[in-house]
Amino acid sequence: MTPSFQRTHTCGELSDNQVGDTVTLCGWVHTRRDHGGLIFIDLWDKFGLTQVVLNPQIDKLAHQEAQALRGNFVIAVTGKVRPRPAGMVNAKLKTGAIEVYIDDMEILNKSETPPFPGWDETEISEVLRLKYRYLDLRSDVLQRNLKLRYDITRTVRNFLHGEKFIEVETPMLTKSTPEGARDYLVPSRLNPEKFYALPQSPQLFKQILMISGMDRYFQIVKCFRDEDLRNDRQPEFTQIDMELSFIDEPALFKLVEGMIAAIYKESLGITIETPFAILKYQEALDRFGSDKPDMRFDLELIDLSEVVAGTDFKVFDQALKNGGQVKALNVKKSTDVLSRKILDDLTEVAKTYGAKGMAWIKVNTNGLQSPIIKFFKPEMLDALIAKVGGEVGDTIVFAADKPKIVADSLANVRLAIAKLMNLIDPKKICLTWITEFPLVEYDETEKRYTAMHHPFTSPLAEDLDKFESDPAGMRARAYDLVLNGNEIGGGSIRIHQSDVQQKMFGLLGIDEKEAHEKFGFLLDALQYGAPPHGGIAFGLDRIAMLLAGADSIRDVIAFPKTQKASCLMTQAPSDIDPKQLKELKLKFDLS
Ligand code: AMO
Ligand code: AMP
Repeated sequence: MTPSFQRTHTCGELSDNQVGDTVTLCGWVHTRRDHGGLIFIDLWDKFGLTQVVLNPQIDKLAHQEAQALRGNFVIAVTGKVRPRPAGMVNAKLKTGAIEVYIDDMEILNKSETPPFPGWDETEISEVLRLKYRYLDLRSDVLQRNLKLRYDITRTVRNFLHGEKFIEVETPMLTKSTPEGARDYLVPSRLNPEKFYALPQSPQLFKQILMISGMDRYFQIVKCFRDEDLRNDRQPEFTQIDMELSFIDEPALFKLVEGMIAAIYKESLGITIETPFAILKYQEALDRFGSDKPDMRFDLELIDLSEVVAGTDFKVFDQALKNGGQVKALNVKKSTDVLSRKILDDLTEVAKTYGAKGMAWIKVNTNGLQSPIIKFFKPEMLDALIAKVGGEVGDTIVFAADKPKIVADSLANVRLAIAKLMNLIDPKKICLTWITEFPLVEYDETEKRYTAMHHPFTSPLAEDLDKFESDPAGMRARAYDLVLNGNEIGGGSIRIHQSDVQQKMFGLLGIDEKEAHEKFGFLLDALQYGAPPHGGIAFGLDRIAMLLAGADSIRDVIAFPKTQKASCLMTQAPSDIDPKQLKELKLKFDLS
């Protein structure tokens, strides 16, 4: 039914200023309270709640009809704004000073009893919330989160427009892109047995746009990756993607810092400090065990490999003899908190990341307490305690293994301790650039080098002659931006010369034929005047999640997917019609 009257205000708008005015509101019945004579309705729309009152003495018919109203009915009401009686003012509500006495009402639509009231803050299973996402999206939290997400994209567009960028769309039906995840494939009806891949990122297109002289490109763009999902990973997610010609790291960092500062200012009213800290990859690993360190608190890893060399403690000795390390965290003022049980729990955390155990020493007033000190000579123990700066009240926890396992396990124990001991000030905002990633890493199972970022990332100028002599030691002109321990963006200065690109493919074991099959169009384009260029892409969902203080990116995405990559509302993915399969010349082999 079309309303016979137009709304004059939203449900979040009326105040003392409109007292005496006749207004029309439209919205959903949020709650209905029948007080014998009077019926009170909280009328909801995304702007707020307004209390409307149906009095049989003002409009008998409307009052009668209102008896039939249930939650979620959509209605239009016309009436007079009155101040609430003394003592009934609700300071928590924007419209809490007034109420509207109705003299006309129209039911625009009825509603079934919903599986849960959309506005309720009580615990509802996520399965139900995702199935009835349209109800869930009425909640204050999701309304706020989607508005915040919009504020972010609006700010980004304005900011980049001011920096002479233009937004260019790139194809969704395309060829495989080299970001390292599995592709989502789409069969081509017109080209039987051939497939498009949905882009894992617009990487190759944005580089080509630089060769086209576009100078500064950006796009707020969907990317698709078939990978194991987590709270900060969705199969389809959104990047703020950009690429710039004639750019180097300092200029790109400055521009991005301006954009992130604008995002904080516009969406949260917070002024952040720039420039951001810069930490080299190796230093990040050495000090925090992670290339996305949470730097809101200290608690750094301390290398004890030299101090404990030659120890009688077999676990440490073996690790060192196998080319490993012994590292520790000194948790200050913790002996009371880190009970035996908690140390056992932390050991389990370390084990999840490959450690075989987690030794510990407590510095108590009456001396050291530990299952391992009996294996140490007093001088070595003194040197160890001195190296970690041990004082009464400290607990020192150890990992001994290959560097990767030591780093992973202590990095995660570090985070668990920070949570346990409330070491993180939730108001703190720590933005850090991580730079000088290795160019390649060795894949033990495939017995070959793979690109740490992607194969178009330029090596550092001083490492360009190491393709043959020391590939593992080559550093990349790649950078990530880390916000409070979360990777929110990553990019690089690219290779813009064909000969360097060929060498890179050589190192990755991609021969000329394969290179041409996969990326021929980019290799061709690089021969026609490619400017030096570089760029970065941000995870919009992750930024929105962190700024919203949400635990999962599902809470900042209107229609997210589950951990099994399905949409509970639409039931995608779903069976398809055999006719469609036939048209696509596809057959299932279910053997
Ligand atoms: P990268 O693969 O690092 O770089 O991706 C950039 C950023 O996108 C976010 N992100 C994700 N967010 C949610 N779900 C996912 N599955 C997911 N995967 C990645 C992260 C990440 O930092 N083409 C390059 C960028 C470049 O070199 O310019 C790229 O895609 O926040
Ligand atoms: P064990 O001699 O195996 O009983 O180990 C003695 C202590 O060393 C226990 O607290 C173990 O958790 C710890 N431990 C075992 N392996 C390691 C390791 N690789 N790194 C650090 N601590 C370990």
